[in-house]
Amino acid sequence: MLILEGTSGNSIGRNVAMLGGFSYSAVESKIFPDGESHIKIPKSDEKSVAIVQSAYAPQDKHILELFFMADGLRERGCEKIIAIIPYLAYARQNKRFKDDDVVGMSTVMRLLKESGVGTVITVEPHRYEAMKMFNGRSVVVDVSEAISKAMMAETDKPVILSPDKGGVERAKKVAGFIGCEYDYVEKERNYDTGAVSTKGPISKDLRGKDVVIVDDVISTGGTIEQAASMAREAGAARVIAAAAHLVMAGNAYERILSSGVSALYGTNTIPYGKAKTIDISEHILKALLSL
Ligand code: R5P
Repeated sequence: MLILEGTSGNSIGRNVAMLGGFSYSAVESKIFPDGESHIKIPKSDEKSVAIVQSAYAPQDKHILELFFMADGLRERGCEKIIAIIPYLAYARQNKRFKDDDVVGMSTVMRLLKESGVGTVITVEPHRYEAMKMFNGRSVVVDVSEAISKAMMAETDKPVILSPDKGGVERAKKVAGFIGCEYDYVEKERNYDTGAVSTKGPISKDLRGKDVVIVDDVISTGGTIEQAASMAREAGAARVIAAAAHLVMAGNAYERILSSGVSALYGTNTIPYGKAKTIDISEHILKALLSL
């Protein structure tokens, strides 16, 4: 199998190839003066190829390049095309929240299939049900263990806090690895403004404790900001935030810091220089070897 790293592989492709002993190549890409992407795939006789292309910003460009790579391989007669998409953009547009919404995830999944992709591997796609929209095989990489290991090194008997009810299973899993308590707060989002508000009470005693808020995505930082403020008010000594995907839109970092978060962790599904990075390449390799 060949591992083909796209423009947004963030070196995960190289790591997976090295760890797994696969051959490796990287696409050549350029942007034409009018802004169009142009992709060249180095020649290879491999009939099985795993493309690594994360769909962080600019999401549309990275997704389109992924379609180009898959379609180019399909045209060349490649028999097995796996798309490793560490951060799957549009996964939060997995349903119609309002009557006139377009379900972006469904379109992305259909176009992946049309481009020749038979299998998708991704990391924590917000709602795992979103993967059912792909008419092929899909494998989800869970990074709870990787996050737990980092938190064991950073904290002492922490309490794991989910910033919403939907994330409570993740918090439970992380707490299970660490062997500590977990809790969650209730969150409400206004879908017109995007603003979030959270409410307690937090049932666990947080006084003097390290509190780790664990989420799948940090985008505007609003969710973490609210949960961190609640944890501080409840007497937490230190608040740490950890997420699978650090989208970090706008002033998310400043918002999070000013709410009392003292350390921020994220995985390398998205490059983000201001946080401590957890490399999840070995977990992606495991998913690839499970096929
Ligand atoms: C939502 O349910 C997700 O799990 C995240 O909590 C959310 O997407 C984070 O977004 P933001 O950082 O914009 O609050």
